[in-house]
Amino acid sequence: MISKETIDKVFEFARVEEVIADFVVLKKSGANYKGLSPFTNEKTPSFVVSPAKQIWKDFSSGKGGNVIAFLMEHEHFNYPESIKYIANKYNIEIEETTNFSQNIDKKNEIESLYIINKFALSSFKENLNNEASSALEYLTKRGLSNEVINEFDLGFCLSNGTSFYKESKANGFKDSYLEKSGLIIFNEGKVIDRFRERVIFPIKSLSGRVLGFGGRIMKSSQKIAKYINSPESEVYNKSKVLYGIYESRQSIVKDDLCLLVEGYMDVLQFHQNGIKNVLASSGTSLTEDQITLVSRLTSNIVLLFDGDKAGVDASLRSTDMILEKGLNVKICSFPEGEDPDSFVKNNKKEKTLDFISQNSKDFIEFKLSFYDEELNDEDKKVEVIRSVIKSISKIQDRLKQEIYIKKCSQILDIDEATLFNSLNIEEKNNYRLNKNRKKIQKSSLSVIQKEKKIKKHNHIFELEKQIITILLKYGEKEIAYEDTIASEDDNGEIKEESKNIKSKVFEKIFLDLQQDEIEFAHPPFQKIYKKLIEIYNSQNEFSYDKFINELDSDLSKIATDILIFDDKHSLHDWEKRNIYVKKIGSDLSQLVIETLFNLRRYLIDARIKKLQEINKDKNKDELLQEVMSYSRLKKVISSKLNRVV
Ligand code: UTP
Ligand code: MN
Repeated sequence: MISKETIDKVFEFARVEEVIADFVVLKKSGANYKGLSPFTNEKTPSFVVSPAKQIWKDFSSGKGGNVIAFLMEHEHFNYPESIKYIANKYNIEIEETTNFSQNIDKKNEIESLYIINKFALSSFKENLNNEASSALEYLTKRGLSNEVINEFDLGFCLSNGTSFYKESKANGFKDSYLEKSGLIIFNEGKVIDRFRERVIFPIKSLSGRVLGFGGRIMKSSQKIAKYINSPESEVYNKSKVLYGIYESRQSIVKDDLCLLVEGYMDVLQFHQNGIKNVLASSGTSLTEDQITLVSRLTSNIVLLFDGDKAGVDASLRSTDMILEKGLNVKICSFPEGEDPDSFVKNNKKEKTLDFISQNSKDFIEFKLSFYDEELNDEDKKVEVIRSVIKSISKIQDRLKQEIYIKKCSQILDIDEATLFNSLNIEEKNNYRLNKNRKKIQKSSLSVIQKEKKIKKHNHIFELEKQIITILLKYGEKEIAYEDTIASEDDNGEIKEESKNIKSKVFEKIFLDLQQDEIEFAHPPFQKIYKKLIEIYNSQNEFSYDKFINELDSDLSKIATDILIFDDKHSLHDWEKRNIYVKKIGSDLSQLVIETLFNLRRYLIDARIKKLQEINKDKNKDELLQEVMSYSRLKKVISSKLNRVV
């Protein structure tokens, strides 16, 4: 683990505008910086960075947050990777804390393998760029430009069988690690370079680390495999990687689509022709982990494969797995004798994209057209339909299932009810199969989508957000207001008197909500609220970035959204929606008090409704009393707001 001191230092030194400037061209605009969204293909800049608040917001995609959130979104780093990136940029030494010596050994091994792979990459690259290299000629002949060759760090391992080993030893690498990396084969006292005389394709992680290599022979031969790959190691797990993920990640996000091909050359040739949202499973059938990897970038996959039988079988298997993971999948097969590599080379970008869009079929169309002949045979037809229903049963989204059932019913001319019936049977089957396995991940809405959904005409949502906004922006300001205070006099009688009270904004909000025992209806707001109150109560001065940095990423996104909007935006439209609020600036105490009253009013309304619903069959008198007491409270509040109920 990275030490807390290192993380603190990273936050102290990192400037969000400096880190982002490494990836996005930013121009000063007032107090902020603006640029083109790196997440969409927009033409007018709507990507905003606030140096004062140390946050960023991308209005075209809805994303936003602190500097770490940017690296996680843009580079797809995880948290420690982001911390390390910044530490590196600002020359901050990374201290790691670890308790078990076993872990240290393992960590050392992993780090050593990464270092060896990095070294190998540069050595192989150098060989390729060596003037006499036949490998460079080979790649050029296959149609790759220097640009693509460089971007993908293609290389060459020399032919004599030991030169890479010798070079590694000269650079101090240990035999044991060289063996574990798979770059060198040790056999009965002999050593040999695994990739000798092969063109090298480095396989990278999402963050660009070199995990392993693929190597291709240059002449066709029946005696040895055309391609070989690094063996599995602490850093290379072939079922978890996809070739091209580092080079294609941004295009996949921007296009919100991933084209999945089989081979290294398919990926390279697509890039060569300007289609950059492409990954390869490298000849193996797709795994769950690989789909999870893609799902970090997009939920739309098109499988592209050569039209042979093996390709079809593999894609049919992949299809169900992708559906099960909650992603959308289409399948596009290429004409006989062509693979994506040859097709794009012959037809270029536009025609290839046209071909893909015209020939992509969803799994129903694909299965039905593939088993066209079987559909004429009644017995076989049942099997095909069952297999289609099975795919539909893997889909997690009810609505999508219904659409597919309708479609299936139309194409096959079978009653919908019958299809739904067999769907039910399949689902029960799946349930039995999955019962002992881990629960299937449901495709979940993003925070933004969820927020939008709730937001629609939901006054409580708006008011809770408003309270958070006020707390964030004015929590420590002082306000004066009049309040009635009940007190006991010497004779034990209760009397009420008006008093002028001064307090800080956060104190007023805290006390009012506590008095009503009000919890926010929206858990994210409740969490942010608690954190804010905690900070105000314990700290002397409040700093935005410190606060944002302490929140989980979902919450920090919400807080960022609130902070980045100008005051005029956050109050936009309020009166139209029947929520009474004075403009900020005119009178802060009025704003605080009215917002609190409004929120109480709506929450009480909600409570009355809930009571009426839950207690439909209960004792009517009791219910009536409770409702009436709430209604009275509502009246008091409304009268304070000068409004009729
Ligand atoms: P293909 O045989 O379709 O090769 O294998 P290709 O991509 O068209 O390659 P070129 O055009 O002949 O250079 C597809 C993928 O399967 C894996 C490789 O990842 C390859 O890119 N493969 C293939 C192997 O791992 N070993 C092999 O011997 C062959
Ligand atoms: Mn090929």
